[in-house]
Amino acid sequence: AEDGYDLWLRYAPLEGEALERLEEFNPQIAVDLYNREDNPTLEAAVRELGFGLHSLLGEPARSRPGGHGRILIDCGSHPTGGEQYFVTTDRQGIRIGGPSHISCLYGAYALLRELSLGADPRTINLTSAPAMPLRMLNHWDNPDGHVERGYAGRSIFDWWNLPDRLDQRMIDYARANASIGINAVVVNNVNAQAYMLEPRYIAKLKRLADAWRPYGIRVFLSARFSAPRDIGGLPTADPLDPAVRAWWRAKADEIYAAIPDFGGFLVKANSEGQPGPQDYGRSHADGANVLAEALGNRGTVIWRAFVYSEHNDVDRAMQAFDEFVPLDGQFAPNVIVQVKNGPIDFQPREPFHPMFGAMPNTRLMLEAQITKEYLGQGTHLAYLAPMWEEVLHADTGRGGTVAQIVQPVGMAGVANTGSDRNWTGSDFDQANWYAFGRLAWDPSLTSEQIAREWAAQTFSRAPEFVEAVVPMMLGSRQAVVDYMTPLGLAHQMATGHHYGPGPWVCDLARPEWNPCYYARADRQGIGFDRTASGSNALAQYAPPVAAGLAADPDYLLWFHHVGWDQAMPSGRSLWAELVGRYDTGVAAVDAMADTWAAQQRHVDPQRFRAVAENLVIQQAEARWWRDASLAWWQSINGLPLPEGTRPPQ
Ligand code: GCU
Repeated sequence: AEDGYDLWLRYAPLEGEALERLEEFNPQIAVDLYNREDNPTLEAAVRELGFGLHSLLGEPARSRPGGHGRILIDCGSHPTGGEQYFVTTDRQGIRIGGPSHISCLYGAYALLRELSLGADPRTINLTSAPAMPLRMLNHWDNPDGHVERGYAGRSIFDWWNLPDRLDQRMIDYARANASIGINAVVVNNVNAQAYMLEPRYIAKLKRLADAWRPYGIRVFLSARFSAPRDIGGLPTADPLDPAVRAWWRAKADEIYAAIPDFGGFLVKANSEGQPGPQDYGRSHADGANVLAEALGNRGTVIWRAFVYSEHNDVDRAMQAFDEFVPLDGQFAPNVIVQVKNGPIDFQPREPFHPMFGAMPNTRLMLEAQITKEYLGQGTHLAYLAPMWEEVLHADTGRGGTVAQIVQPVGMAGVANTGSDRNWTGSDFDQANWYAFGRLAWDPSLTSEQIAREWAAQTFSRAPEFVEAVVPMMLGSRQAVVDYMTPLGLAHQMATGHHYGPGPWVCDLARPEWNPCYYARADRQGIGFDRTASGSNALAQYAPPVAAGLAADPDYLLWFHHVGWDQAMPSGRSLWAELVGRYDTGVAAVDAMADTWAAQQRHVDPQRFRAVAENLVIQQAEARWWRDASLAWWQSINGLPLPEGTRPPQ
């Protein structure tokens, strides 16, 4: 049965002309003479090609013997020669090349992707280089197997049995990542356990690093800032204390002795209760730099900008900018500051984070969330590429788009993997893992192109299927925005789990934990005034960009407190417009369910049913979101539902 384990690497047998062309081409894999020394990366490329081609040709393999379709693997062995690849065709066949061994693995995956999509092997011509050096997954996996904001079962990392036992899943995970160009993995939660830095865990991590190295993946660890005190026996973790500096240096040396290409540390400091340099009156730069010094030119410190403090009553959306921008230029060269896409926290829609472009002398990296904490988690279908495309293409007004700002550094995605057979809990969530990797490799790819590739490889190449399912995917995230938080509302999710609606919640200890803090609904209107008459968060953006954001209907209630009866460009009142948006969201989910219901003949029964059942949940919960939210707003504004805005039930 199809259980989704193979992800987009199914290599389902080709049919029709595409099959005939590949049979006629009759692929034979060859390795160039100079590449014959045992190299695990080239071996992985050969293995994947052999397996993939065999599978594409169907069982039993229908290739003719002795054919002419040579696929030559011919790559340089320069370890740092670059990751670009080319796949070219001439009379002798196909040649996969590039400066380093990993080029050939990436090229092999690109070739298989093209063939899977039905390309003609006689005319394939690809050349590609990653736009960003760091294409990284951040796992929020705890060593006890629980995954923070994970909706696909337990952690895929079996720390208990490592290093002695390496699950095959670790190899398939590396294959999946390599196939989309992901080259770095942080294996543990940003809310880190200090003991992950102890020797017993370094040994386990080494086993993973060794297994993943052939696939071009470097391992990183989330480090708890207070580790020198927690596990090091020191009385302090003050970054300016010489003993603390020496401790980090010795720790780094110990890790590099086991893992010579260890990537470095990811740190969440002074945020949501995590320890950090501010505990000692030091700055984020002081904290990051002491770890950077310990790693030296061997690795990188990735310091997260996701901070907000209970000691600060400024608009939460402004705190990271306020804390970090004054530190521009103070971070060591091997420090990266990792910034979430928006200034709050992975909401269905946020304006881009104002830090992008505002720290020209600091290496900034984008953090996206692949797991859907605030977007219906493991059940709602929401394809996130359009959201990432939106942020990547946003013009910062300060030296380029977000994509251009982060391109020299990279992109991190909070992983959505788990121990479920299909890795991501729901089948369509695989698309988000796929899209993240593809976009980090090439942020100029469109969400549509990526959805097309993914849907055809994952489910069916039938044009009717692709033409129906791709638009469904492309509209799915907007549907979530509309039924959860339309018109720029944010953080209306219930407390703790962030799943269902909770706009009425207003009694949590810290103001910015409460949905009421974000919606600011009262008898007159709704929305957070972030203009000069309010928090003035708008002023953190470059002036022309701020003007654009202030006028953008998608961010209306993010930046403005608007009267319920204020006229919208549609001619309707805000209240009628808002009700209309919730209805649009519900109707969009109904349409998604209809679209999917028509695909039965294209999809295997197991996955067809799984998706259909999730859509039934989503239909019910879109209504739950709409009806609960509207009832709450009505209890505040006393207004009836506008006539004619609700579609019949
Ligand atoms: C969100 C999420 C937390 C997570 C935090 C972070 O607030 O709810 O679970 O730890 O982001 O990014 O650090």
